[in-house]
Amino acid sequence: MKILIAYSTKSGTTAKCTAMLADKLALHSVKSVNLAKELPDPAEYDFVAIGGPVRFGRLHKKTAEYIEKHKEKLMSRRAGYFIVCGFVDSADEYIEKNIPAELREGASACACFGGELNLKNMKGFDRLITRMMIKVVTDEGKSDGELPTRSLPEIMPESISRFADAIKASFR
Ligand SMILES: Cc1cc2nc3c(=O)[nH]c(=O)nc-3n(C[C@H](O)[C@H](O)[C@H](O)COP(=O)(O)O)c2cc1C
Repeated sequence: MKILIAYSTKSGTTAKCTAMLADKLALHSVKSVNLAKELPDPAEYDFVAIGGPVRFGRLHKKTAEYIEKHKEKLMSRRAGYFIVCGFVDSADEYIEKNIPAELREGASACACFGGELNLKNMKGFDRLITRMMIKVVTDEGKSDGELPTRSLPEIMPESISRFADAIKASFR
């Protein structure tokens, strides 16, 4: 079975998630493609997993454009969709807003793989926004002088495993 993992990434977290997903599918023929470098044809694969990071509530442009361009093809094949984001509590809302209903309904899986607010890979504007997001996440529910009540988001390996299991189950 040929599996395509098509993704975009701005600061590397989605790329890390897709490497973890590919690892879990190691017995299959898996091709991971960064959509900034290559635009594969979904019709050449038995399963297509597509995802990317959320930025200002929207799926990263490269992933959103790829989904839009191939919507018809994706409706008639095995597919799954994933997002990576900093506000994991809003994941369901992001999935609903960014993955067209007709694709979600036919999908083997729709998931959030967690996310990171990692200043290390960021510069300029992205760094500024990420700093603000870190403050929002760690200050949430906290009164003045209290220690942070929330920790920073992380990649969720169990969500990636469940997604891999759904891909495998779609071939049975
Ligand atoms: C400019 C910018 C905007 C972002 N907007 C959102 C957002 O609206 N919601 C959210 O949950 N996370 C948001 N994030 C956090 C990213 O989704 C998160 O850092 C993710 O792990 C980045 O994935 P990547 O490294 O693959 O680009 C934003 C990050 C940046 C830099």
